[in-house]
Order: sequence, then C-alpha cells, then structure tokens
Amino acid sequence: MLTDQASKLRNLMHRARQTHTIAVASGKGGVGKSNVALNLAVLLSAAGNKVALLDADLGLANLDVLIDVQVRANLAHVVAGQRTLAEVVIDLPCGVQLVPGASGLARMADMNEFHRTKLLGELSVLEEDNDVIIVDTGAGIGNNVITFAFGADTILVVATPEPTSITDAYALIKVLVQRQCQARMGLLVNFAADRNEARATFNRIATVAREFLGADLYDAGYILSDPKVVAAVRKRQPFVLAYPRCQASRCLAALATKLSRGGSLLVCKESFFKRVANWFS
Ligand SMILES: Nc1ncnc2c1ncn2[C@@H]1O[C@H](COP(=O)(O)OP(=O)(O)O)[C@@H](O)[C@H]1O
Ligand SMILES: [Mg+2]
Repeated sequence: MLTDQASKLRNLMHRARQTHTIAVASGKGGVGKSNVALNLAVLLSAAGNKVALLDADLGLANLDVLIDVQVRANLAHVVAGQRTLAEVVIDLPCGVQLVPGASGLARMADMNEFHRTKLLGELSVLEEDNDVIIVDTGAGIGNNVITFAFGADTILVVATPEPTSITDAYALIKVLVQRQCQARMGLLVNFAADRNEARATFNRIATVAREFLGADLYDAGYILSDPKVVAAVRKRQPFVLAYPRCQASRCLAALATKLSRGGSLLVCKESFFKRVANWFS
C-alpha cells in the first residue's frame, strides 16, 4: 500500500518534471519565426510556466538581436567545450531563459558524434528546470530544422499568405510527414491582412495537407500584420511587452491561451534531446 503510494508519487513527480517542447519552423525565412518564438516564450512565462528559449537557427542565430542583451558566450563555446550550458544561458527580465545560438555553427548533422552528443547532453539540462522549451529553428527543410522539429512535441509552422510561403510551408510539412514525424503539427499564419485572409491561408495549406499527406494540422491561429511589431523590433523589445494591447499581441495571446488550455502543453513523451540524439543513431 505504502509502496503503491510512493510509486504513484514518484510517477507524479516524474510527470511534473516533464517538459513540453515547441519547435517554431518555416519553409521560408523572414516570416516572423523568431518574433513568434520570443513573444510566445514571454507570454507562456507570464502565464506561470518556466520557459527556456533556444536559438537553434545555427546558420543565422539572431534572437539576442531582438532583445537588448549582451551575449558573451553561445552554443559554439558549448560545443567547443569552453563553456557549460549554464554559463551561456541568459536570464531575461521577463523570466525566460535564453540560450543564445551560434551563427555559422556546423549543421548538427555535419557535427561529429562527439560534438553532437556534447551539445545535446548539455542542452538536456534545460529539461530539468523548465516546463516549456521553445526552439527557434532555421528556415527551410535543412537537416537542423528537421532534426529539432522531429524531437519536438509540437511543431509550429509559420507561414504568410504569400504564395511562396504557402508552397514552402507545404514542402516542409510534406518532408516531416514523409519522415513519419510524430509531433503535433500546428500552422500559424503571420502577416495576415485580416481574419479572412488568415483563414483562407490556413485552409489552403490544411486542405492539401489533409488530401495529399493525410495530415491533420492544428489551427494555431494567426497574427495580423502590425507596424507595432516592427517598432518593437527597432526598440529591441518583445512586442507583447512593448505594446501589450497592439493587434499582434492580442493575436499571439490567443495562441498562448489555446496552448495552455486543457493541458495541451503537457502532451509530452520522452526527453526532447534524447529523441533528437536517437534520430542520429
Ligand atoms: N505580424 C507582423 N507584422 C509586421 N511585421 C512583422 C510581423 N511579424 C514579423 N514582422 C517583421 O518581419 C521581420 C522578420 O521577422 P523574424 O521574426 O526575424 O522572421 P524569421 O525569424 O522567420 O526570419 C522582422 O523584422 C519583423 O519586424
Ligand atoms: Mg529568425
């Protein structure tokens, strides 16, 4: 009886420590991925979650440019064994832990086994004390993007109503489905002129994904095109903090609420970084 209770408690504690990982990805660059990743991190943190934000765009890392922080060391130093992960993590005033990326770092797939294992091993520390990890991946269907997206619980594909973005988003979804990605795939439409355009864009992608790939896309909503986003980027502040009542902030708040509601953030399997590592074995 006592052992029964103890094991229940252990299970509960184990579950409480589980971390939900959201990978933000896109087919095309410049669609607002980094802004979505950063601002969603801020909102989920404000909602009481412990959140880490990982800049995994190893080609063109720039999350630190969106906020006014000085980066002294980054993932490249971690891979080189010069710093531990704890030494490069930056505690942002909004409560989010930022892991600065390294521009020009070798693609994960091109790293040797030693460096990759080192990087993933260090990153797994993030799972010990965070409820949510948001990963800002690079654009396209390159190996890094696929690798990080694959391990995630939720992949948030960001697309805009532009035809090129729609086809690129579809191409990314197709690759993920073909490689039997198990993550929940959501689609977020950014730069929408209005609700109808957002809806039409979601429907176009969701319909072909269902018909040709048999994939059901989670409707992650939309963000309106909003000059306040650009203004916040210039001020190097997350737009949800600089302009909490602007249209873009309201749109993203709807997504944060949707993700938090009904325990949807708790759907997690085994360790994210373990899954990423397994992908190479
Ligand atoms: N909803 C929006 N309305 C207006 N401008 C936006 C919006 N989302 C993003 N932007 C602008 O688009 C640019 C690219 O955004 P970013 O998040 O860096 O894209 P990515 O990470 O996909 O390359 C930024 O300069 C940002 O100011
Ligand atoms: Mg970016």
